Amino acid sequence: MTIEDPIVPTFESLSFSSNPQLLESRIKKLIEKFTINFKDEPEFISRSPGRVNLIGDHIDYNFFPVLPMAIDVDVIGVGKSYPDSLEVQLINTDEAFTPQTFVLPADGSVIEIDSENESFSWASYFKCGLIVAHKYILENHAHLLDSGKKPLNGLKVAFDGTVPTGGGLSSSAAFCVASTLAILKANNVPQISKKDLTRITVVCEHYVGVNTGGMDQCASIYGEASKALLVKFKPNLIGVPFKFPSISDSEELAFLITNSLQKSNKHETAPIHYNLRVVEMGIGADLLAHKFGLTLPKDSNIKSGSLRGFLDSYYTDVLHEKPWDGNDVDVGVARLEQVLKLIEKPEIFTAEEKVGFSVDHASQVLGITSQQFTETYLTKVPVRFEVLKLYQRVKHVYAESLKVLQSLRELEKANANNEGEKFLTAFGKIMNESQTSLDELNNSSNEKLNEICAIALANGSYGSRITGAGWGGSIVHLTTTKKLPGLIEALTEKYYKAEFPGITEEELKEAIVDSKPATGSCYIKIDGKWL
Ligand code: ATP
Ligand code: GLA
Ligand code: MG
Repeated sequence: MTIEDPIVPTFESLSFSSNPQLLESRIKKLIEKFTINFKDEPEFISRSPGRVNLIGDHIDYNFFPVLPMAIDVDVIGVGKSYPDSLEVQLINTDEAFTPQTFVLPADGSVIEIDSENESFSWASYFKCGLIVAHKYILENHAHLLDSGKKPLNGLKVAFDGTVPTGGGLSSSAAFCVASTLAILKANNVPQISKKDLTRITVVCEHYVGVNTGGMDQCASIYGEASKALLVKFKPNLIGVPFKFPSISDSEELAFLITNSLQKSNKHETAPIHYNLRVVEMGIGADLLAHKFGLTLPKDSNIKSGSLRGFLDSYYTDVLHEKPWDGNDVDVGVARLEQVLKLIEKPEIFTAEEKVGFSVDHASQVLGITSQQFTETYLTKVPVRFEVLKLYQRVKHVYAESLKVLQSLRELEKANANNEGEKFLTAFGKIMNESQTSLDELNNSSNEKLNEICAIALANGSYGSRITGAGWGGSIVHLTTTKKLPGLIEALTEKYYKAEFPGITEEELKEAIVDSKPATGSCYIKIDGKWL
């Protein structure tokens, strides 16, 4: 294992946390819950944090870089393995997540999620962890399972999560990664690298029918205190930690996260929201490729081409230039600017097509029958739509990816010239332009989310945008430590108290998070023991 391939750490003290006392009290309560419920002592603790994405949304599944950071809120699991049992028992401190019990396949096969017949619950997300952990063990530590003849060990886990669910801060990735770590530990996997853990968990949610990209898991796993992350997908998926510039001796750059308290459950709304974007962007990539006679690698989550794939093939196969390695920011900026001009040409999208595509029209442009189109694009994941907004989605992806690279440029400039203040204005402007794109081209914002942005911008935010999937969830604001109190005050009065008149102090505290970049996924040992 090299320096570039660090292993998921095991901490023997809680000093990695920004609030060790709180973490300790949560762990103690969780151990107590485990002990009372299961009449036994747990053996290990796994933990994985939520994330906030600062710039670059709905582009990770098109393989363009994004800039998220792990945050203080997390999911912790305390567990114990039962090698003589096939039973999995899960309990949770949140009463909404009722206790769950199920049985592992006795023949050593990987468990399946029967989405048609079994009732969907949080156990389904745990099963996602079981599937990826089991496959990883079979591929890398087969002797632990008698080369697949032996089933996984039975297991009991108690969970506690502080990432709001459906709040845009990726509680699902935090939960899936913490579950995967618990399952690996329960089956005696000695250690796992961050790279491998990321690689195996990025597909977790696909098993519950949500075709997410890899940003959330990568941010949760690679997070480092005081650092944000550049997450790259090509040539390999990796998180590179970096620091933001300092502003002045008396003021620091700060990010504020405000939960709109409009829940957005990805699994339920996938056919009209998240998965539909994955489908539209995949069709968009194939349509662009068709215009230039290109055959793209089928690397999207629906086995179509991807928009990164089109950009790369257009440059190598049409313009005969070298492939973009993803590192040279200037090359990336130039290519994205050019492709944004390309899609404005009437031979690429006509004025009518810019309004939307019917299935019949999209099939005709692609030179296939409507039936072939439906089989290729509309059956792998269920989607519902009136028209396919291919031009808007393609434009959003290329413009948003350009914004990420422009942010990196600003960051480089500010670090080189010690110009933190200029960075605030420049990055804030890019964040605001991203929000406009999410609203107008990707249609993943709404009136209330736009209102939060407007209140914030009038009260000390340099840039405010939806973070994560959208259609509810949270807004991230760029501000400074000096402006933070005024910003919180304005959002409390003008959004929360106006929108939710009975809101309690406790609820407000949970909804408004001044979060520093936090440490990523880990195991925790206390006093040299697993517990
Ligand atoms: P986003 O994906 O927009 O960032 P999110 O990840 O919070 O938001 P979803 O993707 O809809 O929202 O995932 C929420 C689901 O994740 C929950 O319904 C539950 O199944 C699972 N989950 C999240 N946190 C926990 C937890 N602490 N305990 C059990 N299950 C959890
Ligand atoms: C969700 C997904 C991510 C990403 C964002 C939007 O959080 O899990 O993979 O696509 O939406 O950027
Ligand atoms: Mg999620």
